[in-house]
Amino acid sequence: MSWSFFREFIFNWKSVGAVAPSSPMLASLIADSANISAARQILELGPGTGPITNAISKSLSSNTHYLGLEMNESFVKQLREKFPVMQFEAVAAQSFDFDTVLGPDGSFDAIVSGLPWTAFPESLQIAILDHVMARLKPGGLFVTFAYTGFHQLPSGRHFRKLLSSRVAELKTTHTVWGNFPPAFVYIAKMKEAATASH
Ligand SMILES: C[S@@+](CC[C@H](N)C(=O)[O-])C[C@H]1O[C@@H](n2cnc3c(N)ncnc32)[C@H](O)[C@@H]1O
Repeated sequence: MSWSFFREFIFNWKSVGAVAPSSPMLASLIADSANISAARQILELGPGTGPITNAISKSLSSNTHYLGLEMNESFVKQLREKFPVMQFEAVAAQSFDFDTVLGPDGSFDAIVSGLPWTAFPESLQIAILDHVMARLKPGGLFVTFAYTGFHQLPSGRHFRKLLSSRVAELKTTHTVWGNFPPAFVYIAKMKEAATASH
């Protein structure tokens, strides 16, 4: 049990959205699905205490830059302690706050999200996806998880529809039953860049 995570859930249950961090099994499935070893710029949304960040760190190339946007300052402090290496940048910011963090031009090969989409109102789902998907490179991957069963709630269905309408391909994985609660992964792929024809 991660008490620091549970404590943040008690005080900020709407944004934390889970009573426990993702299990190592779910975190590895997410990192594998995002093809981390091939990425040069990686963005993680809502890294929390860093279970997915840890899985990412295992396949990260030395010249890859990782940016984590986490709105909870206590989690950001923990992330900086756990991942002190220069290539890991953890910033206390909202998921769509790129302009203050990156400026207008940054883009990513892979975006990994641990955000509690089903707990968000539709307006927030749209606001975040609109900002984030605009920063994904052609052919880039957006990977996120959903708690099995909760994904059938109206907000879960709405999220899937929103995501699917923004990408060329949307796949789902098997459920990781050992996670609490059990969860599966959405793997969304952006359209490849059009190649010039003569
Ligand atoms: C369900 S927890 C997942 C934490 C971690 N990724 C994991 O898998 O264990 C959601 C995390 O997203 C963060 N979060 C929620 N809304 C956010 C937002 N709009 N911008 C940035 N972080 C957010 C919360 O503070 C929390 O750390």
